Amino acid sequence: MDQKNQYRLIVESNQRTKKGFRYTVPSSSVYPNQWLWDSCFHAIIYLSLNETDYAKDEVRALLHGQWGNGMIPHVIYWDGHHDKLDWGTVKDTSSLTQPPMVAYAVERIYSATKDKTYVKEVFDSLDRYYRWLQEERGLDSLITIIHPWESGLDDFGSWDSVYGVDNPTKEVLFRKKRGILIEYVKHGTNSKEFIKTNIFNVRSVLFNAVYLKNLRSTLSLAKIINSDKEKYYAELIPKVESSFRKNHLHESGLYASLYNENIFVSSIENVSIFLPLFCGVLTKSEARTLVEVHLLNEEKYWSKFPIPTMSMESDIFDPDRYWRGSTWININWFVYKGLRDYGFHDVAEELRRRSIASIEESGFHEYFNPLSGKGSGPNDFCWSGLIFDMD
Ligand code: GLC
Repeated sequence: MDQKNQYRLIVESNQRTKKGFRYTVPSSSVYPNQWLWDSCFHAIIYLSLNETDYAKDEVRALLHGQWGNGMIPHVIYWDGHHDKLDWGTVKDTSSLTQPPMVAYAVERIYSATKDKTYVKEVFDSLDRYYRWLQEERGLDSLITIIHPWESGLDDFGSWDSVYGVDNPTKEVLFRKKRGILIEYVKHGTNSKEFIKTNIFNVRSVLFNAVYLKNLRSTLSLAKIINSDKEKYYAELIPKVESSFRKNHLHESGLYASLYNENIFVSSIENVSIFLPLFCGVLTKSEARTLVEVHLLNEEKYWSKFPIPTMSMESDIFDPDRYWRGSTWININWFVYKGLRDYGFHDVAEELRRRSIASIEESGFHEYFNPLSGKGSGPNDFCWSGLIFDMD
């Protein structure tokens, strides 16, 4: 069976309809709820399967979980709260958010369908979400995240320095994530207050790159429907761009994440250094150095099944560990899009080829060993279908 047909079977078994909404779970076996950035990726993948109605519905279901204050939660429990972890939930949703990919997904839906009515239907929700991010979490125009789950990169090696731990085991990280959540709940899930405690006060390069790219998408959507909100985004984008360059740029020339009073995390040699390609914030010459010196470096990132989450030279690198060395297809997709935008077509093509090879080797797993291509996590994982949007 070819990869697309194999993938269609996975998607069909991961589709759900609840309360009149259709959405897709990341994996029937391990992730039985709806997740924010997963659903945005699913919508994009549906477009490449020519399932535009599913793409629209995926976003509609996600927006149904939006809070009155504008936040879009990172998990929606359509069946009620039945997860084994306590996500600090106050409703049938978590009280955290995730990399804000939804405007980009809607822009892609518009490009594929030219459906202005759909853009009009969802635009107000998008606008309320991006304003909430800036008003609630903005610091010098960049967005602060308050829990590792908000980064989308849960056990990421760079967060070790935020917790002040070395070589944490999986159990230590589990206790950290849980402990932060308990403190957040004690603060009444009020993120403005919680940020002041410095328990987890992080500006992630990935999150802010996704935010900036999505502000650009929101601006385009505002123009498409002649919304009077256009001005807000046109004025905000240059501020975010310049703050991104000013604050995230480390003396090594790489863009890195920050915590507390803008201290750089200690392990900056990780895959998020490539995310600035996605949001178009680099000069051509910065992009060239990033690609030629770092991405294509076989000792660091350019393995047989790239791109490892941490540089292979980093002390933290573990090829099989969750967000601590493994390869993820959504990350490859971000870098692929950025490479294309900056004109690195051959490198992008090779990244596409190697991403497909990981799936050929192991199936649609959640993550992959960057050296052997061996898959880990569930093997019915939907966002790995982003290979179909690398074209
Ligand atoms: C894991 C990932 C997160 C993803 C979720 C559902 O928690 O770290 O990014 O959204 O699984 O797939």
